[in-house]
Amino acid sequence: MNPEAWTAVDEYFAERLLERDRGFAALLAANAAAGLPEIDVSPLQGKLLHLLARAMGARRVLEIGTLGGYSTLWLARAVGEGGLVISLEYQLRHAEVARANLARAGVADRVDVRAGAALDLLPKVEARREGPFDLVFIDADKSNQDVYLAWALRLSRPGTVIIGDNVVRDGEVLDADSVNPAVQGIRRFVDLLASEPRLSATAIQTAGAKGWDGFAFAVVD
Ligand code: SAH
Ligand code: DHB
Ligand code: MG
Repeated sequence: MNPEAWTAVDEYFAERLLERDRGFAALLAANAAAGLPEIDVSPLQGKLLHLLARAMGARRVLEIGTLGGYSTLWLARAVGEGGLVISLEYQLRHAEVARANLARAGVADRVDVRAGAALDLLPKVEARREGPFDLVFIDADKSNQDVYLAWALRLSRPGTVIIGDNVVRDGEVLDADSVNPAVQGIRRFVDLLASEPRLSATAIQTAGAKGWDGFAFAVVD
């Protein structure tokens, strides 16, 4: 492993392929000032989410796990004016920082950050008939990753894309006997991806500024 080289390669691509700012740098600076953990997706990963959403013409996005709204901003820029990103965040403080960040970035009109435990908020999303979503990004507490996948399916239509973050965890995903609830949650999530007949899925490992990790990507049939 050579994490320094991974980071240098990320910087090389980011320097060439990412637009200057558009509010992302200010958002990360505000997160740091507020003391939020630096566990957002990387800039190149954020743009991948953005491009996937744009490529499929996503207008309604559901995100589980907002933090300071970094991935949320990439998705909000993809859904365009009149689009909607609903993002669920357990920590009230994270939600408040995210709301301020997203307002400053000029996307308050298309982002709805809701504070609370996702398992309390998801039934309300369903009851209010706010689905189906075009794209769901699952990036909250990994011990519930499989439960969030089941919810994403309930709030889906044929063609919905579901993306799950942090499915590799430095290779820890291989450890079937892990006592880490996050690893067990990811493994149940992978089992559900495999067994659910309505889902076609793959997983991609990533090495970069955020270490060795990966995304799972699924389409609802
Ligand atoms: N998607 C963000 C990073 C999210 S980090 C980005 O890439 O920018 C994971 C977030 O999930 C944290 O802010 C954490 O507070 C939140 N979280 C943890 N448990 C949760 C739960 N039960 N419901 C909703 N959010 C939760
Ligand atoms: C953690 C959470 C994430 O969503 C992530 O991308 C990286 C780390 C964490 O809880 O440590
Ligand atoms: Mg993550």
